[in-house]
Amino acid sequence: MNMFNLSKLLNRIYTARLPELKDLEQVLSLNDPKQLNVLFSFADTVRKEFCGDGILLRGIIEFSSYCSRECFYCGLHKSNHKLKRYRMSEDELFKAVEYLASCRIKTLVLQSGQDDSLDALWFKDIISKIKSKFDMAVTLSLGEKSMDEYGVWRQAGADRYLLKIETFDKELYESVHSGMSLDNRIKCLNYLRALGYQLGSGNIIGLPGQTLKMIAQDIIFFKRGDFDMIGIGPFIPHQDTAFANRQKGEVNLCLKAIALTRIVTKNAHIPATTALGSMDKDYRFDGLKCGANVLMPNFTPQPYRKLYEIYPGKRCVDEPVGRCSFCMDNMAKEIGRFIDYSRGDSLKERKVSANV
Ligand code: 5AD
Ligand code: FES
Repeated sequence: MNMFNLSKLLNRIYTARLPELKDLEQVLSLNDPKQLNVLFSFADTVRKEFCGDGILLRGIIEFSSYCSRECFYCGLHKSNHKLKRYRMSEDELFKAVEYLASCRIKTLVLQSGQDDSLDALWFKDIISKIKSKFDMAVTLSLGEKSMDEYGVWRQAGADRYLLKIETFDKELYESVHSGMSLDNRIKCLNYLRALGYQLGSGNIIGLPGQTLKMIAQDIIFFKRGDFDMIGIGPFIPHQDTAFANRQKGEVNLCLKAIALTRIVTKNAHIPATTALGSMDKDYRFDGLKCGANVLMPNFTPQPYRKLYEIYPGKRCVDEPVGRCSFCMDNMAKEIGRFIDYSRGDSLKERKVSANV
């Protein structure tokens, strides 16, 4: 494809109400560095127009590593008995949140594995206390729960929820998530949307068995679902999983997916994910230059941070708490952008809560 046709193709994707699958697939298969540059700078322009130059921060605390599920790619999976499990106490959690607030961070992400023993009312109390004490948005990322639990937490003041689709291909989804169903995932997303959460989705690039067409379908799913946030990261094999010996996801493919997602979804918040920063070098810079506008500094205190090993080589596991947020200031400066210390609520205008 010549440059003229590439520009035409990107414009067609940009202006479409819903892009064509084959157009997305064609862009995902680009490999020529000059063409990739055109794609990435197109996405960067869209990011600038819809999100500006500010990089939003989401401080993450991984407060429980218990998990009852068997995702074939994830180090936290239930039968990984090598892993020492933890659930932080209320006191520990509060100290971590206090520290995060002192770094001027206005979005807290509370993440755990699928912790089925989590006491929903204990957790509700924690959310209420955080919301009354600190001026910050609270994002939850606790997996698939009941509508009642989602509702209780929403009432307590939780603002946002991240529940990545991981892959929208039913067959692939159900083959890498033993005992889980894509339908239930979507049901959970619909509960969350109905409850008025700002909603996050996302996928993993390079899952064994994934095709370009499946990634294109994921991007169309992101567009149809009108998600407020979309996290896209490369697959990183973990030694204690069924996928230990599989190939890791390709960085360039991940960047192409980020760029296309920006072009298609326009104003969704898109992080340069920690997984992207945990490859042979820190590709979060590249992510920020092809559509991403969010960074997620880690505020999980030791010794827990080391134990939350979703994938190996996760960046910053040895950094002191808080170091990441200083580092992010430098990252932003290095690429001529700045850290935006506001809450960074959804940029979507949603009057009626639509189904996913
Ligand atoms: N490689 C890359 N990303 C992973 N995740 C889980 N395991 C892996 C892995 N091996 C991602 C999933 C999950 C998020 C918390 O981490 O997308 O939603
Ligand atoms: Fe953690 Fe740089 S992002 S130290």
